[in-house]
Amino acid sequence: MPDPRVCPPERAPTGVTLTKIASETVMFALTRNLVFGVTLFAATVASAQERFSFFQPSTPESVERMLKLANLRDDDLIVDLGSGNGLIVLTAARVNAKLRGWGVDIDEKLVAESNGVADRVKFFHQNALDAELGEATVITMWLFPELMRLLRPTILERARPGTGVLTSNWDLGTWPADAVDSGNPSIYLWTVPARVAGNWNFELTLAGQRIAYAAVLEQQFQAAEGVIRAGANREVLTDVKLSGENISFNLAVTLQGIGLTRHDFTGKVRGERIEGTTQVNLPDGTHLELPWRALRTATSDYFAPTGVNMP
Ligand SMILES: C[S@@+](CC[C@H](N)C(=O)[O-])C[C@H]1O[C@@H](n2cnc3c(N)ncnc32)[C@H](O)[C@@H]1O
Repeated sequence: MPDPRVCPPERAPTGVTLTKIASETVMFALTRNLVFGVTLFAATVASAQERFSFFQPSTPESVERMLKLANLRDDDLIVDLGSGNGLIVLTAARVNAKLRGWGVDIDEKLVAESNGVADRVKFFHQNALDAELGEATVITMWLFPELMRLLRPTILERARPGTGVLTSNWDLGTWPADAVDSGNPSIYLWTVPARVAGNWNFELTLAGQRIAYAAVLEQQFQAAEGVIRAGANREVLTDVKLSGENISFNLAVTLQGIGLTRHDFTGKVRGERIEGTTQVNLPDGTHLELPWRALRTATSDYFAPTGVNMP
């Protein structure tokens, strides 16, 4: 007897119409508000194992669209936070015969029912806020929006850069999605960005001179911006882009003894290092491609006196 929870999308129960999905979503939202009120009321006595979102399975159609947007690969480890009866993880394991999956749910009974249904997948009785995400490559969620927002810092801290995050029905507030499937329900996709905020120092040798660079980067989710000191001059970095572990930005700065020099930096953020290349255009028309290795440091030479007096 095949398990109805793992039926592939083409075997979705008949009669699942958009109207039905919409009415179920409205019911879910209405009940959600009621339950959320109760949850708030009970918050003072809640333990760490509070259930912040009740169980309702996704429709097979929305799971299909979620997994399509996830663009699953053989080497993925998909982790569903609030896995319910395991539908998302079990469907992923069904559509891709190699990937692995974990589910995490606060409901012990649902976890017990989900385990043993398919190889390569495992379900854990755990609070989503305590989930181990360091091995995940894809994280899925359909929880109450407040719990999904509470999970943002956990995901950003524990998941590796490049990990895909997908939600259905609700977005993640001010974390802008990288892609949206605006069907019903909406499905959102984010990519976990590397943590680049901080001070980054590196050197380049240009026209026979060793130039010290000290960048200071700020970050809000995947949006980053920064300033830099190159030799004795300070500038703003332009076109800063961050996607997973990949970072790139441009810099046009006047270097003492060289003149206006343009740089295009491209690299990968690996913990406290960035490794990549920079394309440099010198004022005499020389084009260079140089290795770029930056180190994150506690303090920054950006602020050190340059010895050059401003007019
Ligand atoms: C709307 S259901 C989604 C089930 C499944 N992901 C799906 O899409 O079919 C939400 C699930 O989150 C679980 N849940 C609620 N609060 C949780 C928490 N703090 N930690 C882990 N799971 C939680 C509930 O038990 C429920 O199974």
